[in-house]
Amino acid sequence: MGKFHIKDISAYEVLDSRGYPTVACDVTLSKGITAKAMVPSGASTGEREAVELRDGEKNRYNGKGVLKAISNVNDIIAPALIGKDSRKQSMIDEIMIELDGTDNKAKLGANAILAVSLAVAKAAAKASKKPLYRYISEDILQEQKDKYIMPVPMLNVINGGAHADNTIDFQEFMFMPVGAKTLNQACQIASECFHALQKILSEKKFDTNKGDEGGFAPRLKDANQALTLMMEAIKKAGYTAGVNKGVAIALDPAVSELYDSKSRTYVFEKAIKAKILSKEKGTFTSAKMVQYWEALVKKFPIISIEDALAEKDWDGFVELNKKIGKTVQIVGDDLYCTNPKILEVGIEKKATNSILIKLNQIGTLTETIEAIKMAQNNGWSAIVSHRSGETEDTTIADLAVALGTGQIKTGSMSRSERIAKYNRLIEIERELGDMAVYKGEKTFTNLGR
Ligand code: PGA
Ligand code: ZN
Repeated sequence: MGKFHIKDISAYEVLDSRGYPTVACDVTLSKGITAKAMVPSGASTGEREAVELRDGEKNRYNGKGVLKAISNVNDIIAPALIGKDSRKQSMIDEIMIELDGTDNKAKLGANAILAVSLAVAKAAAKASKKPLYRYISEDILQEQKDKYIMPVPMLNVINGGAHADNTIDFQEFMFMPVGAKTLNQACQIASECFHALQKILSEKKFDTNKGDEGGFAPRLKDANQALTLMMEAIKKAGYTAGVNKGVAIALDPAVSELYDSKSRTYVFEKAIKAKILSKEKGTFTSAKMVQYWEALVKKFPIISIEDALAEKDWDGFVELNKKIGKTVQIVGDDLYCTNPKILEVGIEKKATNSILIKLNQIGTLTETIEAIKMAQNNGWSAIVSHRSGETEDTTIADLAVALGTGQIKTGSMSRSERIAKYNRLIEIERELGDMAVYKGEKTFTNLGR
């Protein structure tokens, strides 16, 4: 057996950033090279995501144990992959997809399959003596690059929705340092704006507790107030707020969470509960939602909106994309679930102009790459993303660089599981030297800017 052959695969439970168990997997190659991967976990999940297998045993981790997924790796996947060449990523992923046999990885679990898929790629990269981003680019994609694009980060500095116990129904309010010249400088700008926001919040006597992704989770009145505070923070930190200069704003309201399929309306439950809105004022039709976004992007420098409508509201997406898609990035997360088959429908319908990429929504590296490539080949952007439940695994940083996505969503300027990804990007940029390009505001040229 050559040095790339798989000798052992071993999965076990570790903890994610919310203290819930998740799958970790070690892959060992024949000459002893070992690599580990850990999978993340979402809270505001799309309905068509691949299945995250949980034990459901109420007396253990409140049913959230992943021992079944682990035994699926150790007893079913490992015997099928031992002896295989770790460089044959698509073959390895295909074997696991076939072993599973369902179209949503319900049998073995996407958490089981993804842990193996990523650990295999990392082990092969190590055995090739290449950093992961370069291995993915040169060996998996078969692309020799003279320049690598460093992603513009989307930093989620105000958390609401399913990620925080506050009054804001929208999930994420993000800074995008488009005016930076390097990723390193983007991190500096983001950090300064983040800390300016913290000062402003405490001066105004708002809570500076944090939500799941390390952003603040104050009890604010509405999105308008959150955005106004962000604008103040950008200014206080000494930067300009703008869609194509300084710091732009991106949103992920994640409104599938607010959607009532029966009445086909969006219900702002947190605001209604906190008596900020009456039931009537806090209930939106799809058309009203579209109007709302049209007005909001005129008022604030918003360059990107993800899940602006519910995953079931395709018509709403088409309408919004028609209205503002030329100047604003319209991202589908729950809408596509990183699934190339669903993305195909979106491209056909012109439902959005961008897709969010989360590896565990689909469950293998091969299918993730397929979704990114499909988006890019159709002139769309693809944004590589973390989940609200994360670990110190930094694979997404390498993936964003390897695929030249130009954007990454990986949380706020706090919490080590988020910072680990920024630190990995800083490391990659340093290693690449002149081969690293930070495109900043030029990232959005596909929107006709
Ligand atoms: P999740 O949320 O990881 O909790 O699903 C992130 C997102 O909606 O983008
Ligand atoms: Zn989202």
